[in-house]
Amino acid sequence: MAHVLRVGIAGLGTVGLSVARLLDLQRNVLTARCGRSIVVTAVSARDRTRDRGIDLSEVEWFEDPVTLAQSPDIDIFVELIGGDNGPAKEAVEAALRAGKSVVTANKALIAHHGRALAVLAEEMKVPLLFEASVAGGIPVIKTVREGLAGNRISRISGILNGTCNYILTRMEKEGLSFAKCLKQAQTLGYAEADPTFDIGGNDTAHKLTILAALAFGVDVNIDAVYVEGISTIDSFDIRMAKKLGYRIKLLGVAERSESGIEQRVHPTMVPADSPIARVMGVTNAVSIHADAVGELTLVGPGAGGDATASSVIADIADVARGLMSPPFGSPVATLGRAMQEPMQRHEGGYYVRLTVADTPGAAASIVTSFANAGISLESIIQNRSEDAALLDPTGRSGAPVPVVVITYATTEQAIRTAVDKVIAEGYVVEKPQVIRIERE
Ligand code: HSE
Repeated sequence: MAHVLRVGIAGLGTVGLSVARLLDLQRNVLTARCGRSIVVTAVSARDRTRDRGIDLSEVEWFEDPVTLAQSPDIDIFVELIGGDNGPAKEAVEAALRAGKSVVTANKALIAHHGRALAVLAEEMKVPLLFEASVAGGIPVIKTVREGLAGNRISRISGILNGTCNYILTRMEKEGLSFAKCLKQAQTLGYAEADPTFDIGGNDTAHKLTILAALAFGVDVNIDAVYVEGISTIDSFDIRMAKKLGYRIKLLGVAERSESGIEQRVHPTMVPADSPIARVMGVTNAVSIHADAVGELTLVGPGAGGDATASSVIADIADVARGLMSPPFGSPVATLGRAMQEPMQRHEGGYYVRLTVADTPGAAASIVTSFANAGISLESIIQNRSEDAALLDPTGRSGAPVPVVVITYATTEQAIRTAVDKVIAEGYVVEKPQVIRIERE
């Protein structure tokens, strides 16, 4: 039997502890599957004295992750520190330069520095693996890189942030406020250290650009992703979506367009009976359209210690078996460039909420402006607001009232033109809400 694979783990947070615990728990099955045993021999974490609930008395402790990364007593460096710069990046670079295999769950690191790190890994002829960086426990990277190697992928999309899906689900199901749902997601350990990364859509963008690189053979490029988060989603929008037969999800979508690869993250209305709409809570889902296999959807836990550790261990097992492929499926030198596609060209249906003064001419301005922009309306709904009713039961108060417009397929440019026109005519009293609709 080959020699023991000696693992060094940097970062003993929720995921790091789960990795150490599961490697011990599954020791026998992993030995059988990999043909060698896998043992954690060294760790680095800030506080050595903290009781972490597992026995680490036999492992070597390092204060500094870079020193751990270079230690001659490990074969594989597992980076679970997080952050796109600082100690995580320094330690991963040091490990690769020292000829160690590297496994990381760090999506920010790969999204920002994936190309340079892949170049280094290729030069050093060592694996750089990051299954846990996208969609937690769902083995989507292996699916795209290996399982679909014989396909031409045209689109990859999904719910890639458990915190946002959890918040949107609870807001809809229990009528709770955005702030309360976010607090609960943080308590349950789903949210990033800085939760603005979750709700601002950046975490989804990191994951999407990694998937796009693997699926389309382009450079990982966070700047190529158009990003909008969920913080402007109001409980009114959630109720309206439900009334209209939709559900709001934060989707990441990467697809081939006429001019390149479109990568976008934004709140999206999806039909309430579609498979993606039924993905609730912290669960993630990724749908892949590919020529040979057709459509494939993977659904599973997108966050959480054990689920994410499951993906980290899958990568460690590949290293133990001696498997190696270029980090992004194809050698870096063959990857194309990914540029941001202008959203103005985006085509689809739209939900537009315009809060206007409840005065004569407001509805006419909306209908005319949309018609003049060449937009066909599927429906238009105005419900007199409760405030307006209180102020003036005749309904002529001039108080703000939300008018919701649902359009047939049009372009983002046309929507912006129409909305700007209604604003210019002086009826709009709040920032308009625009949510894209995906009907398929
Ligand atoms: N904050 C992330 C999420 C954790 O909510 O999905 C997993 O990347």
